[in-house]
Amino acid sequence: MNNVKFMSGENIPLEMHKVRMVQKVNLIPVEDRLIAIDKAGFNTFLLQNRDVFMDMLTDSGVNAMSQEQYAAMMRADDSYAGSETFYRLEAVLQDIFGMKYFLPAHQGRACENIIAQTLIKPGQVTVMNYHFTTTKAHITLNGGIVEEILTDEGLKIQSDAPFKGNLDIDKLKESIQRNGKKNIAFIRIEAGTNLIGGQPVSVENMCQVSKICRAEGIKLVFDASLLGDNLYFIKVREQGYKDIDIKTITREIASLVDVLYFSARKLGSARGGGILCHDEDLFLKMRELVPLYEGFLTYGGMSVREMEALAVGLQETMDFDVINQTPIIVEALCNELLSTGVPVVTPPGGLGCHVDAMEFCAHIPQTQYPAGALAVSIYIASGVRCMERGTLSEQRNPDGTERLGEMELARIAVPRRVFTLSQVKYTADRINWLFKNRHLIGGLEFVEEPTMLRFFFGRLKPIGNWPEVLAKKFREDFGDSL
Ligand code: F0G
Repeated sequence: MNNVKFMSGENIPLEMHKVRMVQKVNLIPVEDRLIAIDKAGFNTFLLQNRDVFMDMLTDSGVNAMSQEQYAAMMRADDSYAGSETFYRLEAVLQDIFGMKYFLPAHQGRACENIIAQTLIKPGQVTVMNYHFTTTKAHITLNGGIVEEILTDEGLKIQSDAPFKGNLDIDKLKESIQRNGKKNIAFIRIEAGTNLIGGQPVSVENMCQVSKICRAEGIKLVFDASLLGDNLYFIKVREQGYKDIDIKTITREIASLVDVLYFSARKLGSARGGGILCHDEDLFLKMRELVPLYEGFLTYGGMSVREMEALAVGLQETMDFDVINQTPIIVEALCNELLSTGVPVVTPPGGLGCHVDAMEFCAHIPQTQYPAGALAVSIYIASGVRCMERGTLSEQRNPDGTERLGEMELARIAVPRRVFTLSQVKYTADRINWLFKNRHLIGGLEFVEEPTMLRFFFGRLKPIGNWPEVLAKKFREDFGDSL
């Protein structure tokens, strides 16, 4: 991706790749979208893809792969044990991160399971910039407690801070003092902090955290799932890094942490996961759990074909034209929305554009899931499927009361190298229309509510008949157009 100046003086994101394989998508009429979302229990996770025009639910496992990745898949070695594929992937990881030990796992949350089981004793605290849903679920399942120490800027929707994912160093020191280092299982840094809008962490901040961890003897765990986006932001936003190559920055980061794990559904644009560490004892402890939960040590639940694609995808992550793809498109989408006053998280982050439902749907109380209602409305208005990141994505308190999200976001993810600029402009247009008609959007309530990770398969219903009213207004305004 490259921002190229057009004759008009406008900077337009220009794709640095060409498309050689396509998947047909359907844009069904608004009346059919209404039926589809009703059938899906007003939960965008439960929509069938045949009813979705642009699938912007997630950037996980849905990134376009390169021809080199596909080519590499053909040479995969299927051996149960000792597969050549494993050694190729291990060598690439060791080269990129400079970390000695690698354990494969089937995806990011599987790594979290292994790390949480190995490092957490019941009652211990894990301190982090911000949680991710699956991370928190595994930590709490193992008796741990999550404590978040973002800087105050991190939770502001609109901000100029270039690194909103940074940990607050004073809060970190205070937490260590209050909890006592023995009661801290580990400190976790999440790259490209997902739930606050894909916001990056600076190398400077990681260095400060690492120094404290080393001085106190506390383990530092790094979630590198969104490292690709974070590396882009370090290059363009952090002083002193503009001319440093991506691999050198990656190595520097990896040298600061004890454990690094990733979802290869994001990092490396394949499907799988992995844990890396420097320390042999820790490696041996975690290793015991791999055959138990994942599979033998040389595949860890991953398909060997995906492992080959991952090895190539990770090397391609070291290419600036590859990692700048999503952040530049996200910025273009955010700017289109900001131009009509749609409240989005700024500065634009990686992984997607995040619309602030707390303001967009200010008339909907948080207990009626404004971000969920916004995600439903975006689908009705556009056929674009996005995801709720707010109260619905939280788990209820032990006494059954709602734990209100600190943010209410509709996340419009931008899978890497998948959508064209005209498709992105279409998305912005429909959301801009929705913003003008936002008073028509109403709340949601649960019909079926699972106790764990309820947002995945919970079913809801609208409070009132607002989806019909919204669809009718769409037809009035757009006439015959889809
Ligand atoms: N950590 C982060 C920061 C993530 O964003 C994710 C997944 C995981 C861990 C878990 O990885 O899905 O491979 O098990 N995020 C996806 C998303 C699900 O849509 O944002 P996984």
